[in-house]
Parts: sequence; structure tokens; C-alpha cells
Amino acid sequence: MSKKLFIQTLGCQMNSLDSEHLLSELKTHKGYTQTEDMNEADLIIINTCSVREKPVQKLFSELGSINKSKKTSAKIGVCGCTASHLGEEIIKKAPYVDFVLGARNISKIKDIVDKKGSVEVDINYDESNYTFGSNGHSLYKTSVNISIGCDKECTYCIVPFTRGDEISIPSDMIISQVQKAVDGGAKEVMLLGQNVNNYGKRFSDGSPKSSFTQLLKDISHIEGLERIRFTSPHPLHMDDEFITEFATNPKISKSIHMPLQSGSTKVLKDMKRGYSKEWFLNRATKIRELVPEVRISTDIIVGFPTETHEDFLDTIDVIEKVKFDQIFNFKYSPRPNTAALTLESIVSDEEASKRLEEVIELHKIHQEELMHKNIGKTIKVLFEELKAGGEVSGFSDNYIQVFVKGSEELLGQIVDVKITSASRTTLKGEVI
Ligand code: SAH
Ligand code: SF4
Ligand code: F3S
Repeated sequence: MSKKLFIQTLGCQMNSLDSEHLLSELKTHKGYTQTEDMNEADLIIINTCSVREKPVQKLFSELGSINKSKKTSAKIGVCGCTASHLGEEIIKKAPYVDFVLGARNISKIKDIVDKKGSVEVDINYDESNYTFGSNGHSLYKTSVNISIGCDKECTYCIVPFTRGDEISIPSDMIISQVQKAVDGGAKEVMLLGQNVNNYGKRFSDGSPKSSFTQLLKDISHIEGLERIRFTSPHPLHMDDEFITEFATNPKISKSIHMPLQSGSTKVLKDMKRGYSKEWFLNRATKIRELVPEVRISTDIIVGFPTETHEDFLDTIDVIEKVKFDQIFNFKYSPRPNTAALTLESIVSDEEASKRLEEVIELHKIHQEELMHKNIGKTIKVLFEELKAGGEVSGFSDNYIQVFVKGSEELLGQIVDVKITSASRTTLKGEVI
């Protein structure tokens, strides 16, 4: 009988892809299969996130309870961003943990899984030329890393300390991975990196400099590939060339993440984001003008240490002007090693919570208004999943989840759907 792996993934889409790579490495080299039941697992991996403090605080109590409930012989591995920044400390505090494997060291899993006490957390480790096995969470779409690490120094962010410097993955490797997925039936690819539109500045295999726009063009030539998505792009690097490609290339999905963080030029400077309120508004307006059906999502941090009430009103102003389709909002959380850690905060926790609530409430109004506009429209949906009650769900080109009545023959098809109703986050419709 094969050994069983249970893997819990926290954090962002890069971490989710790392988990899939861990799984495929352990399958290929060590004969593991995945289980959803932790109690029957022979190996339990937590793939951790460090971006905010709370999940990191919870890690050790969680490890404690896993240790109590697991099979006696089962191993525990801590991987990902918290592994990178706490390293050995994890085994010191929780000696029953078998190994610690940092983000960006994923390809070493096969060498350390059976070595009790191993700690591999080198943030300078270069696996940009390593080919991972295929990832198989969906038949119809695939995710591919286009770069590792991050070269920015946003003053609140721990990611550069957990994932190291930015290195781009050679485009021929990316293209052959996408091609392989398409040959296996995939119609959609998600290109992943912490700062995707900075792609092509540095390769470790001597490839000549390139650009994200060029990569998008090259990938769109893959026959049979219908949709290209990517995350996260940085607003600073959204030049005209990129926006034109985004607007005019029919294979590029018309949804874009524009992480604002703050609407105040002063706070953006304190965050070292490299753009102003005006630049952000200019880019968002241009994208909305050129691509009327575009959906724009964003990340917002409230309660950054230097954020006055006036600064916060600038954030509200940008939200009012851009009307984001989706906002991921966070209360500032001080992180080790970051430059902002030493700033004395002028914002009380209570005030930060109030600001967060205000963003959430305003966003709800926008979401309702924007989603309602879809009713009566006919849109193309790529169906992916059977749901309860005889429904099938999929995503529109601009990435809204859509439900229709139907069965498995819809799966993997891109079909016209007439929208009949809308909630704040999903649509319902009829296949026409
Ligand atoms: N590379 C991505 C962000 C990755 S982290 C980008 O630049 O968009 C995901 C989000 O977490 C960030 O966009 C930010 O909004 C949030 N975040 C990062 N550090 C944080 C901190 N210290 N406190 C609160 N939110 C934070
Ligand atoms: Fe963090 Fe900034 Fe890099 Fe995003 S761009 S991962 S927020 S340092
Ligand atoms: Fe992602 Fe969290 Fe690491 S957001 S990059 S898993 S710190």
C-alpha cells in the first residue's frame, strides 16, 4: 500500500503551487499519494504563510494538536514561508517536527523527507531551472511559476525575507510546461510570481533579458490555450506597452489584480511602493477605458503606522473612483525584519479596525452594483466543476464564478451563458 500524505496549505497562490509541487515530487520519488484525512496520513505537511502575524502565532498550537492526533508513526514537516524565516527554531520549539523546508527549497523535499531533523531554508537557493512534475488540481487549468522571489522592498512585507531575490524562469521552460498542460486538456493557465510584470530582468541560466509583455505574447501563440491569467502584477510596472497587450490580446483574461495598498501618496512612499495615488488612478482609468468589461481586484492595508485619517480618506477616494470588483483588505501587521517594524504607529488598533470596516462596507456597495450589471448579459464560461443540486460551475473570462443547471458534458467546455441573477460574488445563468 502506498504511503499517504496530508498537506495543509496556507497563504497565497504561490504557496498552493508549491504544495502541488511537493505532492508531485513525493509521488514520483517516494511513492506517496494524497489523503484528505490527516488521521490516516504517514506524512503531514503544513505549508505555512508568514505575511501576517496571527497564523504564525497559531502554528505551534496547531502543530501540538496534530502531534497528539496523528498516527504514532506519522512524520510532520513544516514547509513554506514561516519555515524560511523561523528555520531551526521550529524544531527547537516543537522537537517532534521531523523536518523544516523553506519556500524556494521545494525541490529538496525528496532528499530530506526521510532525514529526521533536517532544516533546509536557504532563501538564496536557486530552483528556477528545476522542472517539477505536472500539477493536477484541475484538468482544465494549470498554474505555472514564471519567477521566484521578490526584488521589491515594500516596508511592511516579509516576503523578500522568505522567498529571497527575484529570478525569472526561462521562457522556454514556461512555454513547454504550458504546452504539456494544454496537451493534457488544459485551456487556461495562471502565471504566478510575486511581481509578474517585472519578468525577464534576471535569469540564472544566462538567458537574455526579456519582458512580461513579450512572455505574454509568446505564451499566447500556444495553440489550444484559450485563457491566460497572471498574478500578482505591480502597479508601478503597468506601462503602456503592457496595458495595450492586456487590452488587445484576446487570449488574456480580462481580470487584473492591481494591489493598491494605500491611496495616499505619502503612505505609498513610506511603504516604498514606487508609485503615487495619481499614477495608480491613471493606470486604472486607462485599463477601464480600454477594456470596459475588465474586473479589477486589489489589496488594501489599513492602519499602516504613518496613516493619518486624511491618508485613509485618500484610500477611500481611490476606492470610490476605481470601484474595485474585489478587495482583499488587511489590517497592518508588523513583521520581523521589515523596515516598517521600527516605525512608531499613530493608529490605534481600534481605529484600524474602524477603517477596515469602512473599506468592507463601501466595497459591498460597489460589489452589488457591479455584479448586478451582469444580469441579462451573455458571457462565455469555462465550466470546471460539478456542484450539488444538479449545478455546474465555472468562470467567465473576467473571472466571475458562474453557476448553471447542467451535467458533466459541460466540463472543460467554454459555453455562452445568459445571466439571470447575481449575488455579490457569484452569478447564475442559463446555457444558451
Ligand atoms: N507580491 C504581492 C503581494 C504578496 S503579499 C503584491 O505586491 O501585490 C499579499 C498581500 O498581503 C499584500 O498585497 C498586502 O496587501 C498584504 N500584506 C503584506 N504584508 C502585510 C503586513 N505586514 N500587514 C498586513 N498586510 C500585509
Ligand atoms: Fe511584498 Fe512588495 Fe514584493 Fe509584493 S512586491 S511580495 S508586497 S515586497
Ligand atoms: Fe505567499 Fe504568505 Fe509566503 S502570502 S509568499 S505564503 S508569506
